[in-house]
Amino acid sequence: MPKASGAASTDAHQDDQQESTPASAVTAAAGEPAAADAARIAEMLAAIAAIGADPSGVGISRVGFSQAEREAHRLVGGWLRELGLSIRQDAIGNTIAERKGLDPSLPAIGFGSHLDSVPHGGRFDGIVGVVGAVELVHQLVANEEQTRHPLRVVIFAGEEGARFGEPCIGSKAAAGHLANRDLGHMRDAQGVSLAEALEGIGLNPARVRDARWRPADWAAFLELHIEQARALEEQGLPIGIVDIVSGSTRLKIDLAGRADHSGGTPMSMRSDALATAAEVVVAAEALAKEPQHRGARLTVGRLDVFPNSITTIPGRVVLAVDVRDIDSDRQRMLAAQLVQRTRAAAERRGVRFEAEVIADTSPAVMPIWIREAVSRACDAEGLEFRVMTSGAGHDSQVINQIVPAGIIFVPSKDGLSHVPEEWTSAIDIARGVNVLHRSVLSLDALLAEFGNLAEPAAGSAS
Ligand code: GLV
Ligand code: MN
Ligand code: MN
Repeated sequence: MPKASGAASTDAHQDDQQESTPASAVTAAAGEPAAADAARIAEMLAAIAAIGADPSGVGISRVGFSQAEREAHRLVGGWLRELGLSIRQDAIGNTIAERKGLDPSLPAIGFGSHLDSVPHGGRFDGIVGVVGAVELVHQLVANEEQTRHPLRVVIFAGEEGARFGEPCIGSKAAAGHLANRDLGHMRDAQGVSLAEALEGIGLNPARVRDARWRPADWAAFLELHIEQARALEEQGLPIGIVDIVSGSTRLKIDLAGRADHSGGTPMSMRSDALATAAEVVVAAEALAKEPQHRGARLTVGRLDVFPNSITTIPGRVVLAVDVRDIDSDRQRMLAAQLVQRTRAAAERRGVRFEAEVIADTSPAVMPIWIREAVSRACDAEGLEFRVMTSGAGHDSQVINQIVPAGIIFVPSKDGLSHVPEEWTSAIDIARGVNVLHRSVLSLDALLAEFGNLAEPAAGSAS
């Protein structure tokens, strides 16, 4: 377990050079509880980054339901156990650590995020929320702060949709949105089903329904996360409070033309699946830029080309498409319009096509009373914030369907994410932890006074 500050890590030294605030004690003032420890945060981030690091030493490939993801869960679970929390792993691989509250009859306040990464991704997406949760527990233990509600740190499994197309698998299982048949249906690029992946890490796919949360056991959930965009950095703000999280519709588009000899086949006699795919990619970009889709994000992130040989006309191309919007109708309409454009291009070129929705997550509006608790925490910390949407998806948008949830953003350097260059300073993360800390204590007091405010999914947009 990383020790308390003093011996600042390399990251923390770098932070020292970038910012004038000392690496530890970001906001601690005389008489106040000690603040989040940036040096320990940097050490925890470095320890987790060593798991699943690419051999090149540049990126991280710790994809969902891999041994590397399990190893990261075990490492952090061990830290939390040392801090006195009880730990369990649920049927989908979420890790849940509990610190008892003064009143065992009360539902829990949860906080956390995920430890899986996209292939060749960075060190901060999801990790910051987990490391932040551990650091918060450190502070609670050090200050002997006791809450009335039990506190639960949750490390969700398989948040990134990069492996199976479906994002937030751990939180969807917790929210009851994962059926047993989905487990055999979802397959990664190697053809491994989610059920097989679960068995590979020692979990029983038949038990996945056991991961479902009882909403009555939870009062609220908070997630600290990097922004993954540029707004906070550009505006010089340390904190963002998320009001709406984009939804995503993921499509698999399969184009089947005719493979043939690249020299022998005249240009007029081809059914080139890759030329059709190229048209679809360009049409997709143009479509998403049309005025009625302002704010939408459409990405063709993967093309699988068969046989992928320089001297053979591509006979088949499979495209992976990600459509996002904070408006659920526009999100799904854009996906439908892309399918229409694909049909037109395919018919013109004599190529067959099939389009399948492989995942669909609704946008979420986060409850205002949680956002207000976070904004009061920012005020108490003397930190400026802005309210903002999230283009990226998060476990909290799924959890919000059964437990009121909030998301706290800290800045991303140059807005970069899902790439090895992803970066947030430990100082900025420590500020976020302090806001998380005060928000948890404020919710603990608020909920103790007014009872469980966990009304049915006030925030779900669709
Ligand atoms: C998660 O980072 C996502 O892809 O939105
Ligand atoms: Mn994330
Ligand atoms: Mn991500």
